[in-house]
Amino acid sequence: MTEIAMLEAALKESTLEESTLEESTLEDSTVEALTPVEALATEGTNTGEGTLVDGLLAESFHQEPPKREEPWVLVKSRKGGRPKPVPKPADVKTIKFEPTIKAMDPLPLLSKEAIAGQHFYTYREYKQSREYRVLKAIIKEFVRDTFKDSASGEDPVRKAVCLGIGSFDPENGSWSVKEKAHVQLAAFLLIVEEIEKFCKKPIKCIFQEPAFEVSDIAFITSLGHEVVESPVAFDAVDSHTFLFGVHLYRDVYAHAFKNGDFPALFIGTGWDVWSDVNYRWEPEECTLDAIEIMEKTHKKFAFPEAKGKNIFYGTSIYWD
Ligand SMILES: C[S@@+](CC[C@H](N)C(=O)[O-])C[C@H]1O[C@@H](n2cnc3c(N)ncnc32)[C@H](O)[C@@H]1O
Repeated sequence: MTEIAMLEAALKESTLEESTLEESTLEDSTVEALTPVEALATEGTNTGEGTLVDGLLAESFHQEPPKREEPWVLVKSRKGGRPKPVPKPADVKTIKFEPTIKAMDPLPLLSKEAIAGQHFYTYREYKQSREYRVLKAIIKEFVRDTFKDSASGEDPVRKAVCLGIGSFDPENGSWSVKEKAHVQLAAFLLIVEEIEKFCKKPIKCIFQEPAFEVSDIAFITSLGHEVVESPVAFDAVDSHTFLFGVHLYRDVYAHAFKNGDFPALFIGTGWDVWSDVNYRWEPEECTLDAIEIMEKTHKKFAFPEAKGKNIFYGTSIYWD
């Protein structure tokens, strides 16, 4: 089953209505004709502010009330026991305080079907966007460069590692956090689909995000991908990996490059951003030497972004 077919199946189960949306009208032939440079020439300038937004740790607050299974027990008074005296109102020293206003019930967690429903629309909208046409042209150039000598041998890209995408169901229900996760996932999956067209075997997708809730994991695994706990995905990064991590913390990037291999394709915060950040003290495990080297030795493109958006702000695309 393809990614989109699975999303469509999940959508049928969700409560969202799809009748108002039309199918894509984008013509792929235009995309085929564009080189990334031509496509970028038609692209707007990225003017988003450089705020790298912290992902929210969604907490599970769904709790079942305890079940009563024991039968009621009738407590009998002791034979010969004296009845206790009833205290006079003046003798009552402690009055139990009961708040009259109760805290609001937390928002229920989204089901994986509801997340899949939201993703279906974001994926389709992103696929029709001008930014995606530019991205597709860039990925075609990556494929031309990377797959040219691989006709008989093994695929140059075998794994795709996605780090720190954020929760699709953040604790505060913020749409801007959800939107980032959905658009970044759509871009990641579309890049994988594009590269896979030239591969002999499917690309294995691995996700690592400590902020994932149960429903996030259920959604990603329902798409046929693997979710691992940190630091498992770091060990998976090698020279046959497409590494994708947008707006990650310095130490997360450092750990992703700790194996010493340059990934076949890297999408993440570029050296132009990191070189502007001054650190008084840099622990060895936080070094970003790999990104600095890629800046000098690799091909680099700015990740295409619509004007006024900051979903991919400061993000670059590197390959050798
Ligand atoms: C600044 S947020 C970026 C979230 C999202 N990609 C965005 O652009 O808004 C950094 C993300 O990295 C995640 N993160 C932290 N430690 C991580 C780890 N060891 N592996 C993968 N992701 C991690 C956080 O949970 C958080 O969602």
